Amino acid sequence: MKKLWGGRFKKKTNPLVEEFTKSIHYDYKLAKYDLAGSITHVKILEKCGYLTSDETSELETALESIGKEIGKKDFTQNEKCEDIHTYIQNELQKKVGNLALKLQTARSRNDQVVFATKLYCKEEAIPDLQSAIKHLVKAIDKLVDENKNIILPGFTHMQHAQPVYLKDYLGAYCDMLKRDSNRLKYISQNMKVTLGAGALAGTPIKADIYEAADVEAVINSIDSVSDRDFVIEIISALSIVAMHLSRLAEDLIIYSSKEFDFIEIDEAFCTGSSLMPQKKNPDVLELVRGYSGRLYGNLVSMLTMMKGLPLSYNRDMQLDKESLFSSFEIVSQELEVLTGLIKTLKFNKAKIKEHLEDESLYATDLVYYLVDKEVPFAQAHEIAGELYRYSLDNKLGIKGLPQKKLKKFSDKIVKKEIVRLFNPAFSVRSKKSIKRAKA
Ligand code: ARG
Repeated sequence: MKKLWGGRFKKKTNPLVEEFTKSIHYDYKLAKYDLAGSITHVKILEKCGYLTSDETSELETALESIGKEIGKKDFTQNEKCEDIHTYIQNELQKKVGNLALKLQTARSRNDQVVFATKLYCKEEAIPDLQSAIKHLVKAIDKLVDENKNIILPGFTHMQHAQPVYLKDYLGAYCDMLKRDSNRLKYISQNMKVTLGAGALAGTPIKADIYEAADVEAVINSIDSVSDRDFVIEIISALSIVAMHLSRLAEDLIIYSSKEFDFIEIDEAFCTGSSLMPQKKNPDVLELVRGYSGRLYGNLVSMLTMMKGLPLSYNRDMQLDKESLFSSFEIVSQELEVLTGLIKTLKFNKAKIKEHLEDESLYATDLVYYLVDKEVPFAQAHEIAGELYRYSLDNKLGIKGLPQKKLKKFSDKIVKKEIVRLFNPAFSVRSKKSIKRAKA
C-alpha cells in the first residue's frame, strides 16, 4: 500500500509497525469531511495557479466519485492503508494517475486531520446528538403530559423529604438535557475549522485565498495542528450528558424496585435471568449507568495523552479519535434506548399514593402553618419535630391525635386546620416560588 511519505526510506516498514500505527479502522468516519477538505484544497490550488482548470475539474470529479464509493466500504477489517487520508489519496491516484500527486501541494495530514475531525463534529456528530437529546426530552414531556396530575414523594439524602409534582421531577432531567445541548452548541460555535497550517509552519498560500474558498484562515499554525481542546471539551460535555443519563437510570432502577414500585418498566426494555425465572431486570438502565465510566475514562485518557506533548503535532494525538467517536457512539445509543424506555414507562399510581401517606412528608408544611400563626420559624421547626418524634415513638398518626394532645406541643395548633396539611396536592400547591411557564 502506497504511503504518503516513502521517499526517504530505503527499508520496507515492518508489518508490526504498519499494524500498530494505523488508524483507518476508526478514522474512516472522517472520509466525507476529508473529501470536503480535499475539494476545497483543489479549489485553493487552482486559485494559486498550482492546478489548471482542467486538472481542477478532473480532481474534483474523481474526489466526488470516491465519495460515492467510499460509503459502501468496510474499513474495520483487513484494510491495509494507514489512515483515511492516505486511502483517499491512493484512490485518487488510481483514478487520475500522477495528477493526484499535486493534491499534496502545501498540505499536511496534521492540518487535514484537525480540519476533518472538527467538521465531522460540527456537521454530523454534534447535531445528531442534539437531535437525540431533543427526542428524549420530547418523550419525557409526553410522559409528563400523560401523567399530569401525579405527585410523588420527593427525596433528599434518599429519605422522604416533601411531595413534588412528577412534572417537576422529570422536568429536572429535561432541564439538564437542554443545558447539555446548549453546552454542545457553544463548543461547536467556538470551534474554528481552519486550513493552512501545513505540517506546523503554515503554507506558501496567502490567507486571503483560504478565506475566499470559504474556510477560516489559520491564526496560529502551530496551535492549530497541536490543539485538541475541542476534543476534550466535547468529551467533557458528553461526559456530563452521560452523568445525567446515569442519574436518570439510577432513579428509574430504584423506583422500579419492589420496595418502591413507583414505576413499571416495559418488558421490551428489560432482560431476564438464566437461573431465576421470576426476574425482570433493568439491565438497560444499569448499562447506561455503567457506560458513564467509559465516558470519564475517555476524558481522562485524552487529558492524560495531551498533558506532556511538546509542540506541535505528535502521533499520540491520533488516538483522540477513538475516544471521541466512542463517546459519541455510547451517548447517542444511550439517548436512543432511553427514549424508547421512557415512551413505554408506566406509573403505579396506587403505590405512589400509598407512599404519599407517610406523614413525615408534610412535617415542613406543619412548620409553615405555625409560621403563618406568627411562631418564629426555628421554634415552629422544633415543635413540628417534637410532634413527629412523638408520633414515631407512639406509632400514632399526627392528624389522628386529639386536639388536647396537639395543644401540648403548641396552643397554636388547631386539629381541624392541620388535617388538610397532610395532603400532597395541598402541599405542592402551597409552594409558590417556582416560576412556571404559562400553559
Ligand atoms: N492518522 C494521523 C492522525 O490521525 C494523521 C496524521 C499523521 N501525520 C503524521 N505526520 N504522521 O493523527
